[in-house]
Amino acid sequence: MAAAIRTIGVSTGGGDCPGLNAVIRGVVKAALLDHGWRVIGIQDGFDGLIWPEKSRELDHASVRGILNRGGTILGTTNRGNPFAYELVENGQKVVKDFSQRCVENARKLGLDAMVVIGGDGTMKIGSDLSKLGLPMVGVPKTIDNDLSATEVTFGFETAVQTATEALDRIQTTAESHHRVMVMEVMGRDAGWIALWSGLAGGADVILIPEIPFTIEKVCGKIKEREGMGRTFSIVVVAEGAKFPANDPSGKPIPPAKPGSVANTLAFSIREYTGKDVRVTVLGHVQRGGTPTAFDRLLGLRFGVHAADLIAQGKFGYMVCLKGGEIQSCPIEEAIGVYKTVNPKSDLVRTARAAGVTFGD
Ligand code: F6P
Repeated sequence: MAAAIRTIGVSTGGGDCPGLNAVIRGVVKAALLDHGWRVIGIQDGFDGLIWPEKSRELDHASVRGILNRGGTILGTTNRGNPFAYELVENGQKVVKDFSQRCVENARKLGLDAMVVIGGDGTMKIGSDLSKLGLPMVGVPKTIDNDLSATEVTFGFETAVQTATEALDRIQTTAESHHRVMVMEVMGRDAGWIALWSGLAGGADVILIPEIPFTIEKVCGKIKEREGMGRTFSIVVVAEGAKFPANDPSGKPIPPAKPGSVANTLAFSIREYTGKDVRVTVLGHVQRGGTPTAFDRLLGLRFGVHAADLIAQGKFGYMVCLKGGEIQSCPIEEAIGVYKTVNPKSDLVRTARAAGVTFGD
């Protein structure tokens, strides 16, 4: 099968992530130089297979100067599932199955196999398309670092660096104004970004989904610092942090969604400490911009090894990092298996020993 490869496709799906362009460069360089294949860039996730006129050939010039660029030169979407594609036709919302059309268009483009770069959702779609006859290999991607199949994902370190730099800035203004600063970071249902950036940025309180907290404990820490003459405090809260049902007076705390978590928390802190509180929701700043050297390197390695998987005929596999080495694992086994922060891990212990409270 591997001997028949002449042309491969590459696509990026789901939310973007610093380091995606490094992966694309790794795939293209390895395909052209090592294997002698052509590469077609599939635009905007699987949309480029539904509408193949969007796709284009990727040569050396296409991947020149992209290592340090955030985002993805191929575009992406976290909506276009070809098995259930939502469209508006004659003013009506309709859902269509374009999966067969994707496989047929891949054939028309001459694709013998695909490298699909994405998160869980994208991998699942790719895996289902491969069952219809489009062989694929995967490259995992997320800033959240919550995939158990790989020790780390590219984009995570960049997100942590961005959040840490934000904390450094927040700290000086917090100190000047004697305020409590609450910063909300991304991470979905995992607390990795909050824990790493909170620790690196010297936060006093870190709230993560894996460790339930109470408002009393959070405010207790702020008051304790106040008692020691530390008139400002820094709180990092993960967007997925699990709030207690009630505040200290028994009032229900309204449900908070990503983007409003820090504000909900700030309201209670203001009420129960009497302190001046300000909120920063870091949001997509964490996803954009220049990837760190580590993320570029991991992306490149993933890209080159994804091309190797195709050459070896290891379809249905994705690359991963284990023991610092690039390895591979079956996509079906990796989908939906998440890695969250272990409350007993050395990082959590380090934080506690350094005086950080998790509000528990
Ligand atoms: O999974 C990556 C991530 O950035 C999460 O941390 C965040 O919850 C989500 O994507 C945001 O997605 P969107 O770009 O659709 O708002």
